[in-house]
Amino acid sequence: MLKIEGLVKRYGKFTAVDHLDMEVNKGSIYGFVGPNGAGKTTTMKIMAGLLSADEGSVYIDGMNVSEDIDALKDKIGYMPDFFGVYNDLRVDEYMDFYAGTYYIPYEQRKDIIDNLLELVDLKDKRNFYVDSLSRGMKQRLCLARSLIHDPEILILDEPASGLDPRARVEMKEVLKQLRTLDKTIIISSHILPELAEMCTEIGIINRGRLIDSGSVNEIMRHISKERIIDVKVLEGTENAVKILEQLPEVTDIRENTFDVSFGCNGTDEMLSQVLSKLVSAGVPVISFTEREGNLEDIFMKLTGGEEDA
Ligand SMILES: Nc1ncnc2c1ncn2[C@@H]1O[C@H](COP(=O)(O)OP(=O)(O)OP(=O)(O)O)[C@@H](O)[C@H]1O
Ligand SMILES: [Mg+2]
Repeated sequence: MLKIEGLVKRYGKFTAVDHLDMEVNKGSIYGFVGPNGAGKTTTMKIMAGLLSADEGSVYIDGMNVSEDIDALKDKIGYMPDFFGVYNDLRVDEYMDFYAGTYYIPYEQRKDIIDNLLELVDLKDKRNFYVDSLSRGMKQRLCLARSLIHDPEILILDEPASGLDPRARVEMKEVLKQLRTLDKTIIISSHILPELAEMCTEIGIINRGRLIDSGSVNEIMRHISKERIIDVKVLEGTENAVKILEQLPEVTDIRENTFDVSFGCNGTDEMLSQVLSKLVSAGVPVISFTEREGNLEDIFMKLTGGEEDA
């Protein structure tokens, strides 16, 4: 459905998208996740034909976005990360305005707008001024607007950003509804767990490159080759660290007040050796446990802990 090959976008000397390759299958809900400044918005704007690339191509259904945008415009729905101010426009007028930009015939507009406002739970706000809506409502309206021409592929740039917990839940409910519409959806966020629960595939972008992609489980497996072990001690973490540092199978040692964690690429046998070495050296171990795969940890690890959310 969507294929990106060797995409590069520079702003002056700065390379925001750096030879990015990406593939999104038809019907999937693709979570595009990365820390602030990773290049998500830039990539999504290029996908939607709103920004030109310096190198590489985006194909939708085999057509090149930079060459065939007129033909593709009807297939693509785009929800930007920011939206403007609309003085003196009521909700239904706003929707009607966008229907007009896609040349949707007048006689069809009412039904389309009714259905979309129902979908995003704004039916009873149709006569309200857009500017009087809450941020969450505006974002849902913006989502409804991106669906006005019934696009096959929806590109949503952080639809839940800046919302309070309750509004996030409401937005997520609407996004769940979208799954039933049988569209291909690409949705960005800098919060991996939030995306993981609704997406069929995830792509992780960092510094303009796609550094991992696949189902959540696949991504977990890629990274969990290395196991993380937490060791709690009664006292003397320094001693534990000293011993762990001598073991070649141990990596990433981190010391806290009462515990030490480390990474290990080894087998169960090797792990049990590590434990017995600690104990026989007199380290008073209270517990020795493998950490459960945690999506946020994985994300931090993959992106080098640069997320600043
Ligand atoms: N118009 C521009 N001029 C110069 N630099 C830009 C411009 N737009 C984006 N950048 C830079 O390109 C990089 C990627 O920005 P982009 O907005 O694509 O990231 P993002 O992943 O969407 O981040 P966020 O999570 O903050 O929305 C950032 O370092 C940003 O500062
Ligand atoms: Mg962005």
